[in-house]
Amino acid sequence: MYTKPISEKPLSDRMNPVMAAPQAAHAIPDLEGLLNVPAVEHEPVPGAPAPAHAHAHDFLSFHRLTVNPFSDAVNPVFFYRTDAHDVAFIRMMMVIEHDISLGLITGFSGTGKTLVSQMLLRNLDPARYEPILVLVCPNMGKTALLREILNELGIAIPRPPVATQDMLKLLSDAIINLHNNGRKLVILIDECHFLSAESLHLIRTISNIEIPERKLSTCILFGEQRFLKRLENPSYESLRNRMYLRSELKPLEAVDTDQYIKFRLLVAGREDMLFDASAVAAVQKLAGGVCRRINRLCMLALIQAFSENKPVIDEAIIAECARDF
Ligand SMILES: Nc1ncnc2c1ncn2[C@@H]1O[C@H](COP(=O)(O)OP(=O)(O)O)[C@@H](O)[C@H]1O
Ligand SMILES: [Mg+2]
Repeated sequence: MYTKPISEKPLSDRMNPVMAAPQAAHAIPDLEGLLNVPAVEHEPVPGAPAPAHAHAHDFLSFHRLTVNPFSDAVNPVFFYRTDAHDVAFIRMMMVIEHDISLGLITGFSGTGKTLVSQMLLRNLDPARYEPILVLVCPNMGKTALLREILNELGIAIPRPPVATQDMLKLLSDAIINLHNNGRKLVILIDECHFLSAESLHLIRTISNIEIPERKLSTCILFGEQRFLKRLENPSYESLRNRMYLRSELKPLEAVDTDQYIKFRLLVAGREDMLFDASAVAAVQKLAGGVCRRINRLCMLALIQAFSENKPVIDEAIIAECARDF
């Protein structure tokens, strides 16, 4: 189960809590499994250039990796539990379980908001919840937003022109229907900073759908820091007042960046550290602790080290990659 954040947890405890048990066996190969891996084709000879016939994916086997540890894809298997991510996850679970209608997670781009939304999506018990994820694009109007929500719920929408009120009625019927079956609608809205004013008011309306004793849905918003500034506008006061629980994701501190890199390598099948201390310090300096930037820089470094035939990534390799960064 999900435990309270403890700052000094061993690396294995920082794994995705729910997926850890069933998935660990293949997510993190045991040492014996690793020792059985066939000999690396390109045995590193320091200084020698990478063979001309090398394929793009060879950089993974060169570094004894089974998958790319620094892919930009949002994959919950790679979820590394920093305290801030832990707190964000736990708070939003509270919002959902305690019938609070709105929750908010903010953070700069690349700090892990979408990943937390995926973690929530996967961890909600389908017997009790109907979670849907909606990705907002710039200036999405309220009709488009409603359509997205209904689509995600698999509800047929009459052909246009269809009045917003009619769609809202379809949604409210669906929410009541779910409730009658012992389930609650949870709407996760990613990139909420793109929501138009009318869409934000629509979210307030949806959060008002209730029966005398309880709220019938929960909406969790994920957006960039600037969204908070927007919420300060007096016209959003009632929306703001409904968000009791918020959480902010921040860039990682140096010590977490070090563990984050180790953890991702471990999940990708590499037990010993590939980046030396000088390299990690350089990554922290250049990426500023932003996960997406760390991933990008580390992946460039894996490729650069492969092309220079270097088995360990040091500061010099990171400096080389910084030029493309
Ligand atoms: N705590 C974390 N553990 C593992 N990977 C993370 C973590 N936070 C962010 N990432 C990774 O960093 C990248 C950017 O994260 P993402 O959720 O897309 O950020 P945002 O939505 O805030 O822009 C993704 O590849 C994601 O998997
Ligand atoms: Mg995102």
